Amino acid sequence: MPASDQKHDISWLLTRRSAAVKRLGAPAPTEAELDQILSAGLTAPDHGAMRPWRVVQCTDDGRARLAELFVAAKRRSKPDATEAEFARERDKALRPPVLLAILAKPKTSKPEVTEAEQIACAGAAMQSMLLAAYGLGYGAIILSGSRCADPEVRRAFGAEGTDHLLGFISIGTIVETPIPSRRPTLDEMLEIFDAQGLRTRNN
Ligand SMILES: Cc1cc2nc3c(=O)[nH]c(=O)nc-3n(C[C@H](O)[C@H](O)[C@H](O)COP(=O)(O)O)c2cc1C
Repeated sequence: MPASDQKHDISWLLTRRSAAVKRLGAPAPTEAELDQILSAGLTAPDHGAMRPWRVVQCTDDGRARLAELFVAAKRRSKPDATEAEFARERDKALRPPVLLAILAKPKTSKPEVTEAEQIACAGAAMQSMLLAAYGLGYGAIILSGSRCADPEVRRAFGAEGTDHLLGFISIGTIVETPIPSRRPTLDEMLEIFDAQGLRTRNN
């Protein structure tokens, strides 16, 4: 049967929500589950097969090093940061059982594939990984912050030139129920383009 003839229940997709790092704990996804999550990222639409993004898995000792990089970045961006703020930086690296860095690496080899499209591809990969984590029963969140623009953090992840360190995906078991964020409604978001031009759905 062609894939397009298959219908899947997608109601679970509509309930995805992010889980703050402080609500994540052990156990981590198994290696096989993590491979599934990462493989979901590889299904992102990719105009021109540019492979315009990178994913880096941080190991336990890598996360310990990252904690110190985050603290140093915080010290640079906010010299008067408090100990509590430094502790939160460490926590962002150390608490999530799985931590992935996601970079967009726009390329110029095919002028018809714009930088915006390539960043969109990286975003699609991130959302696919979030959905896969959620589908497997884990909590996840993407966090960026000023640390992603810090030269030493960028250097640590091999970000060059116009590369964007888009953020870090934290994944783990939900140990405390996330607070649901308000979603826009379709009436707020959806516009219709018809023969008369643009309109909202209700008029
Ligand atoms: C690339 C990217 C970076 C983000 N960085 C942050 C961040 O640094 N801090 C933050 O509070 N939320 C950040 N978010 C938003 C959260 O990941 C999350 O979407 C938000 O808390 C809303 O929760 P929801 O996904 O359940 O709607 C980022 C989202 C994206 C796509």
